[in-house]
Amino acid sequence: MFVLFLLPVVALSFADAVNHSCKDIYLGNPSSPNGTYTIYNRKIQPYKVYCEFHFKYGYTYVSKNTSVEVNINDLFTTNAHVKVRHMKANGAQAEAVMENIKNYPTQPLGIFYNQHTGYAASVNAANLAPYLYLGFLPISLANHVNPQGYRANGQDFNFVNCDRNPNSYFVFYFNPNHKLPIGYVNRCCESTLMHSWITVAHTLPTAYNMPDEFYFDYEIHLGGCGGYAFIHHHNDINGAALGVRFEQADPCQSSPCQNGASCYSEDETNFFCECPDGFVGDTCNVKGDHNNMGIIG
Ligand SMILES: *[C@@H]1O[C@H](CO)[C@@H](O)[C@H](O)[C@H]1NC(C)=O
Ligand SMILES: *[C@@H]1O[C@H](CO)[C@@H](O)[C@H](O)[C@H]1NC(C)=O
Ligand SMILES: *[C@@H]1O[C@H](CO)[C@@H](O)[C@H](O)[C@H]1NC(C)=O
Repeated sequence: MFVLFLLPVVALSFADAVNHSCKDIYLGNPSSPNGTYTIYNRKIQPYKVYCEFHFKYGYTYVSKNTSVEVNINDLFTTNAHVKVRHMKANGAQAEAVMENIKNYPTQPLGIFYNQHTGYAASVNAANLAPYLYLGFLPISLANHVNPQGYRANGQDFNFVNCDRNPNSYFVFYFNPNHKLPIGYVNRCCESTLMHSWITVAHTLPTAYNMPDEFYFDYEIHLGGCGGYAFIHHHNDINGAALGVRFEQADPCQSSPCQNGASCYSEDETNFFCECPDGFVGDTCNVKGDHNNMGIIG
């Protein structure tokens, strides 16, 4: 015989009347389709995102046409991995999950809008700003002669930093004035390391393609001897896009149910505990018999 209790816990979200993220849209309607949505930054200025929804999680891609500030911390809840999509010259789109190499299993990614706190500045940061910054290793870990690189779709692509140059980033430029890149852009030639995230990507069915406005100019730079590539070096690619991940919070994660009870989450804040025989209470923390409490179960 089981008794179910519904327990509200404190909601942490801010209570504006607008959607600030794909997560807000998902929570408002979990059967929302993938597609382009308008969301609002903290100044309540609108911009477009592409929301890719899955069951209780999803990815958010910002439109390159965005001309207002992006509060990127509102767009993701985990920095353990991201998705990077690219558009091929023939219009096909493909994606790879990207994260740190397994030498750094607990090192989060650095995900920023128009800044790179703790990470090396990108070559075209000022020139082609604003930008979305994806940092693999911060300067404190990248300025050593050590193995570095990135992981894409489960495979590590490594190099050993030869001179302690701390570049370990993938940057996506809004480049609103369509300027030409500066820096190493005329250097020959592209390396396997710079191209592997493209090579291992999975092509998406065309029904999941994003509109062109979500694909950016990009720069990837590793090391000290890893390599450098600007979009112009990849003549098979028309642009790349950074997808940051949100997850619906699970109130059962903190193990609120006691004495071996099972926990079931209703939504981000509500859960119930299924008590084993001999325990009662909203978290099954009280010894007792359901019948003695007069509850019909
Ligand atoms: C937020 O998104 C939901 C879909 O989940 C939509 O129904 C709702 O109208 C949006 N809220 C506002 C204020 O636009
Ligand atoms: C959204 O697109 C992804 C592929 O990018 C797909 O796996 C997922 O099922 C789609 N979600 C919906 C709600 O159609
Ligand atoms: C995005 O901006 C470009 C100009 O930079 C414009 O040509 C294009 O129509 C815009 N796309 C959308 C979907 O608004």
